[in-house]
Amino acid sequence: MVGVGLIGTGFMGKCHAIAWNAVGTVFPDVDKPRLVHLGEVNDDLARRKAGEFGFARGSGDWRAVVNDTEVDVVSLTTPNQFHPEMAIAILEAGKHLWCEKPMAPSFAGAEAMAEAAKKSGKAAVLGYNYIQNPAIRHIGALLEEKIIGDVNLVRIEMDEDFMADPEARFFWKHEAASGYGALDDFAVHPLSLIKVLFGRVARVMCDMVKPYADRKVASGGRRAVETYDIASVLMHLENGVAGTLLVNRSAWGRKGRIAIQIFGSKGSILYDQERMNEFQLYLTADRPTEQGYRTILVAPHHKPMIPSCRRPAMGWASTTSR
Ligand SMILES: NC(=O)c1ccc[n+]([C@@H]2O[C@H](COP(=O)([O-])OP(=O)(O)OC[C@H]3O[C@@H](n4cnc5c(N)ncnc54)[C@H](O)[C@@H]3O)[C@@H](O)[C@H]2O)c1
Repeated sequence: MVGVGLIGTGFMGKCHAIAWNAVGTVFPDVDKPRLVHLGEVNDDLARRKAGEFGFARGSGDWRAVVNDTEVDVVSLTTPNQFHPEMAIAILEAGKHLWCEKPMAPSFAGAEAMAEAAKKSGKAAVLGYNYIQNPAIRHIGALLEEKIIGDVNLVRIEMDEDFMADPEARFFWKHEAASGYGALDDFAVHPLSLIKVLFGRVARVMCDMVKPYADRKVASGGRRAVETYDIASVLMHLENGVAGTLLVNRSAWGRKGRIAIQIFGSKGSILYDQERMNEFQLYLTADRPTEQGYRTILVAPHHKPMIPSCRRPAMGWASTTSR
């Protein structure tokens, strides 16, 4: 039975815990994992979260999770700046790793992690969850078969409003140690979609904007914001396709928008993650009198749905296959 460790029990730690707890329900053919040990910043919080999340024990020192001989795989869901040190320790201890995005705040940190993963021979997975949406997988398959011909432009935008309130408190995503801000902490999601749909980015030109110079801190007063909530990128992909990537973590009204527009020589495809169970397809192959965007709803014949999911409205996230 696989023993699971978890480091960090905030927003994403809870998501990972829900996923580990759901393995037996979603994959009846797989041995149910044993939730062994979780780590937090102090013992009290760790023990409380262990009880809530169903883990056997909790420690206020993350190294106790890494050194636990009953742990085989570790979910790493701490703030970005801790990923390199913790991930490398997990891999060097001979455990498999599921590390949240972004991989690391610096290229050197990411390279060191990749090297440790290679040396360890263990599975090392990053949390690019949006690429698992069957709608995205199917758009990829349609592009592969060139249903819209040769692509000439991809336009991708990601907007959320979790930093839109100027009175919201300063937290770790405003510290330079966590990375540039929207460009890496946030845009890694649309970039992961670009990677699976088209391949790698070859050239970029970028502008980054800080909408609020400082923010309130819990102890009173204000602290200068060190990261950028808005980034605008012009890019060329290695396959010759041109593109734009626009991201904003301070976009009031947007709750989880990733809007993709792909234009080709024989049609176009539109997708918006705020309506994640559907996408639009326009084909010049249709008779001119009936040409127009058709809406395609995700259904069981779109991969990777598993047979137990009969309707997209029931949620694909809990039903994606390995
Ligand atoms: N895949 C996604 O869609 C997605 C979404 C949100 C966040 N994330 C990523 O997940 C990671 C965590 O983000 P979050 O929003 O859950 O943050 P969070 O602030 O809600 O949670 C982080 C947790 O880590 C704990 N922590 C901090 N330092 C620690 C240490 N030294 N040892 C043990 N625990 C420690 C904190 O106490 C906190 O509980 C980040 O890398 C973030 O970029 C991914």
